[in-house]
Amino acid sequence: MLREIAGRRAGDLHGSCVIAGAVALEETPANLGEPDLAHRLSLTSECGPLPSCRLGRLNTVNFTTGPRYDGYADWYDANIGPYAEAAGQELLDLLGSGPGRCLDLACGTGINLRRLTDAGWTVTGVDLSADQLRLARKRAPSGVELLQADATALPFADASFDAIACSLLHTDVTDFAAVCREAARVLKPGGHFAYVGIHPCFVGPFARNPPGQPPELHPGYRDTSWTTEGFSDGIRRRAGARHVPLAELLTAFIDAGLRLVRVTEATDEEYPMRIGVLAAAEPSPGTTARRIRPIVIGVALRDDRILAVEGYDPIKGERFYRSPGGGLEFGETSAEALRREFREELDAKITEIGYLGALENVFTFDGEPGLEIVVVHRVTLAGDARFGADTVTGAESDGSDFTACWLPLAEVRSGAERLYP
Ligand SMILES: C[S@@+](CC[C@H](N)C(=O)[O-])C[C@H]1O[C@@H](n2cnc3c(N)ncnc32)[C@H](O)[C@@H]1O
Repeated sequence: MLREIAGRRAGDLHGSCVIAGAVALEETPANLGEPDLAHRLSLTSECGPLPSCRLGRLNTVNFTTGPRYDGYADWYDANIGPYAEAAGQELLDLLGSGPGRCLDLACGTGINLRRLTDAGWTVTGVDLSADQLRLARKRAPSGVELLQADATALPFADASFDAIACSLLHTDVTDFAAVCREAARVLKPGGHFAYVGIHPCFVGPFARNPPGQPPELHPGYRDTSWTTEGFSDGIRRRAGARHVPLAELLTAFIDAGLRLVRVTEATDEEYPMRIGVLAAAEPSPGTTARRIRPIVIGVALRDDRILAVEGYDPIKGERFYRSPGGGLEFGETSAEALRREFREELDAKITEIGYLGALENVFTFDGEPGLEIVVVHRVTLAGDARFGADTVTGAESDGSDFTACWLPLAEVRSGAERLYP
């Protein structure tokens, strides 16, 4: 039935479809194989009964995830450039600037390499196709590392990258969910995965995009088999494509454990031709990942000493002290949180409390950047024999012990000891 409808639709289009003939289209710059592009480039000659005018799955083929772009790299680079540049700009708008290590996933001929390095990222590019990488090597700014690798089995350790940038890949793989799982694995907690691809609702084998008019949708939205047809001519006729419906695309990020931060339909057309997704790797418990943490601390003084908890940064090899306290929980005031923290961790009762102020603590601990908004209270503790001693043992919420002591303020003033907020 579908074949019949598609065939009839193809017939309907003969003589009226506004798309260049196959040969002319191959020679045309910036045709990604998406119909809207052909139109945007003013390819207005009438065409005959070309396979490229058909909609549906008249020519379904079996593709593997092999390097299907081998042999097409020069063509891709010469013809897809402007489209990929536009997608690359949207990608950078989503991702933002470095510093940090950024993976350009399926980097192709390297169209995004300079954009990413200029934005402050230290870039590693991977692609399955040696031919695409041949051109990427010519284009790569110095310092960029390029590797031939499969996006579904990356040769990197867990948590190797601060960011991942990827454009125009989801229609090129059988299992985009596997790509997202690998992305989540190699991203550091708190790192971002920015993706821009063709919009699944309006671009695909089931859609035509007449210039200046709303897209025409036809049967086939849920058909996800590989095809060389229906995305018009260009790269798709050569390398094939697999349409990924919107729900499958977004669910791939979510099922990989990534948090959707933003979804964009960034092109300025009435109907978006590309979709952008910014997803974040969730921080694992106990890590100081890139997030802002509201905390409260209590300044307890005895003579000319301050109650302080000892800490150690193994990367800096540095001992430091902080006033006791902890994170605010939802629904708590800072005073309530401080009373709870002193009770839970030091088994101590606060008898008096007074607000001193708030400050921002921007720091690096254990090699990870951190940012805390710190509410500071002056506290007086109930008479507890333990607080007469020079050191007090407390218990963290994870059960581990910590030591608090009455630190002489003179040592902080002289710089002999570090006291952080
Ligand atoms: C449409 S091109 C996009 C290239 C580049 N991101 C750009 O925007 O120009 C798709 C790229 O994905 C690569 N590719 C396809 N399957 C892949 C896989 N499993 N792993 C890595 N790269 C893959 C292809 O070789 C090709 O270079």
